[in-house]
Amino acid sequence: MTYGDRDQLLRDDAYLIHPLQHSGEHDDPLICVRTEGSTLTDMEGKDYIDGLSSLWNVNVGHGRRELAEAAADQIVELGFFSCYAGATNVPAVRLANRLRELAPGPLNYTFFTSGGAVSNDSAIKTARYFWQRADRPDKTKVISRKHAYHGVTIGAMNATGLEAYWADFGSSLPGYVHIDAPYPYHYRPADSGVGCGEAAARALEEAILREGPDTVAAFIGEPVQGAAGVIVPPEDYWPRIREICTKYDVLLIADEVITGFGRIGHWFGVSHWDVVPDIITFAKGVTSGYVPLGGIIVSDEIHDCIQHAPGDRKWNHSFTYSGHPTCCAVGLANLEILEKEGLIERCRVMGEKLIDGLRTLRTLPHVGDIRGIGLMAAVEVVEDPASRRPYDPALKIGGRIVKKMLENGVYTRCRGDSVNFAPPFVVTAAELDRMINVAGDAIESVTA
Ligand SMILES: Cc1ncc(COP(=O)(O)O)c(C=O)c1O
Repeated sequence: MTYGDRDQLLRDDAYLIHPLQHSGEHDDPLICVRTEGSTLTDMEGKDYIDGLSSLWNVNVGHGRRELAEAAADQIVELGFFSCYAGATNVPAVRLANRLRELAPGPLNYTFFTSGGAVSNDSAIKTARYFWQRADRPDKTKVISRKHAYHGVTIGAMNATGLEAYWADFGSSLPGYVHIDAPYPYHYRPADSGVGCGEAAARALEEAILREGPDTVAAFIGEPVQGAAGVIVPPEDYWPRIREICTKYDVLLIADEVITGFGRIGHWFGVSHWDVVPDIITFAKGVTSGYVPLGGIIVSDEIHDCIQHAPGDRKWNHSFTYSGHPTCCAVGLANLEILEKEGLIERCRVMGEKLIDGLRTLRTLPHVGDIRGIGLMAAVEVVEDPASRRPYDPALKIGGRIVKKMLENGVYTRCRGDSVNFAPPFVVTAAELDRMINVAGDAIESVTA
């Protein structure tokens, strides 16, 4: 393939708006032209370790011919046909059936979307629909957490707890409530006798009682908060959240857009805590990012409500690309790779190596927190580790560390001063070592 003129590519913002566009952040973009395994290659032939599986999604690694062949075969046979009620296609049926086998408990029914935010909007709408149909029409509010990232469509954006994503897009919608997140490094419960997990779970109970249980439709949370810098909750948090949601008839939505399909060592992240939500939302890893696909998996009870609606109250929710045959065919082939190659088990093993390796950076004077689970980790640098005082955000320490890492051959992203690590499950021990060394050098030189 010829790549065209590099200078012209570098001026792409003359006609292309990038996600999170900002001129200052697009001066020297990485023009990735080829990928293989855990390696990205730029136009000049320089290699980088993909320290974030691109956008936390290329779980099985790059360059998989099986996925290319699954897509090509499906496009030739049936590239697209509607999946609206009254029509169906074989890959969508097969993938939904496979997800029924993989999802926990009574989560047996899948509706497909094309990404993460639209899956979360679908879940929020479905929760509201469920309560409308149960003759509890005031149950519409959605509780989510600070630091949450659920995407940028209007519903998902309002559930997102990172203010930067909604501050300049008009006032937030009524009916969205943000509570504290179980962020062990920074969260200080008001009651010092209570642990972080229990206190953050109590924040949910308090919010439900404050708003009124008859007004709350759902609580949505990422099993591990990813985009905010891999915030891993204490072990007691999710079981308590499940109890509280059940106690107050609040549907529990697990946003598994990052944690789904192996990232923390289970098919779905909630299984780490043996928790069964009412709705799982997924995207990214279901196809390892090769084609866009997402969806929601709902419980038998929610499906019953959809399936047995009277004609004039049907679940009027749809996307043109729900159950896209090509995307579903790639999804099936991707799940087969994960299973056949034992990649979820590998993710667990390599995840332990990653976190052990990152812990060696503890000796650096400004490394504050090192956290992770499976192949999902972060190093948070702070100005003063003793008091956990962060750097002035204007210094952009995290961004400078990530830039330095890129110069030295490792690609990743940060949130504030937390540098994220989530390589593909095929990452080798040597690649992990190199990534950790490059990170250590970058942290040392930027914070010196
Ligand atoms: C947990 C989580 N939910 C939702 C989304 C949004 O997904 P998308 O960008 O496909 O809309 C993301 C994206 O990173 C995510 O990390």
